[in-house]
Amino acid sequence: MHRPVTSREVRAAFLDFFVEHDHHRIGGVSLLSRNDPTLLFVNSGMAPLKRYFTGEERPPHPDLCNVQPCIRTKDIDDVGDRHHLTLFEMLGSWSIDHYFKERAIELAFELLTTRLGFDPHRLYATVFDGDPSLPLPADDISASIWEGVGIPRDHIVPLGVDNFWGPAGDTGPCGPCTEVFYDTGAQFGPGFVPGKEFDTTRRYIEIWNAGVFMEYERQADGTFSKLPFTSVDTGCGLERLVMAMNGQDSVYDTDLMQPIVEMAGAAADDKLSPENERMIADHVRAATFILGEGVRPSNEGAGYIPRRVLRKSIAVVHRAGVAGYDFDGIIDVIIGMFGEHYPHLVQRRSEIHALFREEHADFERVISRGLDQLERLYSAAPFRIRGRDAFDLFATYGLPLDIVRDFARERGGDVDVEEYEREFRVHQTKSRVIKLRGGGGSEDWPVDDRRFAALEGTVAPTAFLGYADVFARSSVVGMAVAGQLVGGATVGDRVELIARATPFYAESGGQVGDTGIVRAIGGPASGTGTEPAEIAVVDTIRTSQGYHVHRGTVVAGSVAVGDDVSLEVDTERRDNLRRNHSATHLLQAVLRTMLGEHVHQAGSLVEPSRLRFDFTNPAALTREQLYEVERVLNRAIFSDLAANTEVKSFAEAVASGALSMEGEKYGDRVRVVHFGDYSVELCGGTHVAATGDINLFRIISESSIASGVRRIVALTGEAAVEYTLHRDAILSTVAGRLKVGVDDVPERIERLATGAKKKSSRAGAAAAAAPAAGQRTTLADGTPYLAAMSAGDATVLRAQALHLAASIAGPVVIAADDDGRARVTVVVPRALEDRFDAAAILGALLPLIEGRGGGKPGMAMGGGPRVTGLRELLDAVPSALG
Ligand code: SER
Repeated sequence: MHRPVTSREVRAAFLDFFVEHDHHRIGGVSLLSRNDPTLLFVNSGMAPLKRYFTGEERPPHPDLCNVQPCIRTKDIDDVGDRHHLTLFEMLGSWSIDHYFKERAIELAFELLTTRLGFDPHRLYATVFDGDPSLPLPADDISASIWEGVGIPRDHIVPLGVDNFWGPAGDTGPCGPCTEVFYDTGAQFGPGFVPGKEFDTTRRYIEIWNAGVFMEYERQADGTFSKLPFTSVDTGCGLERLVMAMNGQDSVYDTDLMQPIVEMAGAAADDKLSPENERMIADHVRAATFILGEGVRPSNEGAGYIPRRVLRKSIAVVHRAGVAGYDFDGIIDVIIGMFGEHYPHLVQRRSEIHALFREEHADFERVISRGLDQLERLYSAAPFRIRGRDAFDLFATYGLPLDIVRDFARERGGDVDVEEYEREFRVHQTKSRVIKLRGGGGSEDWPVDDRRFAALEGTVAPTAFLGYADVFARSSVVGMAVAGQLVGGATVGDRVELIARATPFYAESGGQVGDTGIVRAIGGPASGTGTEPAEIAVVDTIRTSQGYHVHRGTVVAGSVAVGDDVSLEVDTERRDNLRRNHSATHLLQAVLRTMLGEHVHQAGSLVEPSRLRFDFTNPAALTREQLYEVERVLNRAIFSDLAANTEVKSFAEAVASGALSMEGEKYGDRVRVVHFGDYSVELCGGTHVAATGDINLFRIISESSIASGVRRIVALTGEAAVEYTLHRDAILSTVAGRLKVGVDDVPERIERLATGAKKKSSRAGAAAAAAPAAGQRTTLADGTPYLAAMSAGDATVLRAQALHLAASIAGPVVIAADDDGRARVTVVVPRALEDRFDAAAILGALLPLIEGRGGGKPGMAMGGGPRVTGLRELLDAVPSALG
């Protein structure tokens, strides 16, 4: 019987071939595109090598080859067809400023036909024929080279823009390319007729981009310039190559995917459709690799892809009515299959499991409500789901677009994807703005100072009374609703209000704006006998004209320009702001004393709930240094240093040693805030009267935000007290669980850790006992099989058996003593199911362990009490297969 070729053999054959032809093998890199801002993930083997082709960097050798895992997010929608995957392994070869088209095509043809055994009659080559959208000539040379090496003329297909590859990302090297397609047979569609359309989705499958002939560099403005020299970039999807070589129907039948598909189906007790089993196999594999790079699922950036694919998988399982789906088992199969080539997956195994579980639990909490809402939406307006609604489903319930689209398509409808994407972009920009401002009351309220331009000249800049007062009376001198100046506003209006004078601090210098209430206390509008006007102020900002703009909603009555108003700042919030702002000054002083004068403020955010201070320092602070900062700063608090403020000219202030912030704009007259001699800073913010009012200072985190810039987040006042108590409660809980006093916790943990180490070395021994593909033997007719002892529970055995059966391409029987219980797992690869039946094999073996069990032709599992029968059972495998 013809044995399928394994992916391991194909990887090796590709690399060996190029190494034998004087290519230098280089390593693959992380999936994340760390040095190329135009790409989120590495999408091709050449992406990390871009600088070699432009001449910015010299390669270690002119000709190179490697294997590189890649992610193509644009292929996610096609996942589940014959040949598209989210993640794939790309076999690549390159020639940088060395050989070009002729040699590249010769090498490709030789490898495919002589080394890999492809029948040349089933190969097709596409070449670039020019395209109106590209100012570049057709590539006639490649066509004649292909003909020269032995591809018949009618197998050479001229194509347009599809045969121009690159760049990876928005800019960089690119050029016309020539791709090799494999004819998978008449059962997949009619044959190609020259001059007619070439079907690249079903019958003819691309197996190798055998050469991007890099001659051009795409610039950011979309134009092309000539590269200083020419290069060749080839890339071949391993999964497709294995599929084509084995004559398999799809990439999911290869040993790179099949065990995962099998596990994805088994974990759902076969309640999933074959398409969904494939989709989940693809998605979980891609997510495992991405999370294995230390990425966390999130709503933007690289973390969005694992979130999207995992949620899609979770939703599919949920809709199929499967409870407690076991992603862990699938992940273990994946790590078992790929851990040898990608050892970081093994190292991060528990982290990957934990992130999957977290995402699963979080999403499961809201998914039913999300799907209900989707049903409601669809029945109210069937066939076309608005992009905005789809986005709301994502924003509120975390339902990714794919789920909404599948749902609509199953019912013959669709989603307005363009509108969805617009909403998504708007949201991303907004959330970035919110992050920059650190949250607050009116982020989604656009700011454009021109709306008050008409007041300039007649209305003076607002007098700020808030250093001394939190309550004041004044009169309304200007108002705007929806960005337009208005004379009055009424209940429900979102209003911007300017008074002649105000105690409300307007956001600046890192301190967020005040909130509170503005009430009408007389004047024309409130004199009408209606309810007195009340405006709930959610934020205060300052315009370039010097106006403090109170932003909020009219919650009662009506208010008009000219009204007298009382302005009342939320004092509790303001007191917290004072504490946090003054503590920020002390923190800067302490850091400079402790670490040195190189410490400079690089950013600051003073909110009521916490303070955030960014500063320049080459290294992280140690835990001891952080304790020392807290100790010294709290000592400054206990000393109750009085705050003193002077107003001086800028030059005078700086000459007297006040710290100013680079990049900040200061007026001619500046305020200088002193806390004793301890801290002297230029500052327009609001502060405590004396440091004692800060009460307590606690650091909650120290981290890096850019190279050489650190960030400290800290609490003061009641928040610091609560934080301390909370920590204490955690410690008490831990002590309680360990049944020791708090003081004895460290020692007990140490003992437990030593115990765990011993245990894990026992587990290590069990892993060492895991059978390997090399242990296989053969039946009399040459069929490979494997029968071996292992260690672990049913899930572990199942994962091992699936993996091994795929890699040896024969039946596998794995047995183990699982804490005194005999366990057996039998797996038969799908290709051999017509010859072997896993359930029957298991049935023949079970009496030897007095066991019970069952399964299907592909996989069967059982267990029994007679552990001593396991050896005998393994010895009986050849006859059970017989
Ligand atoms: N960069 C080309 C591709 O990805 C060849 O490797 O197809």
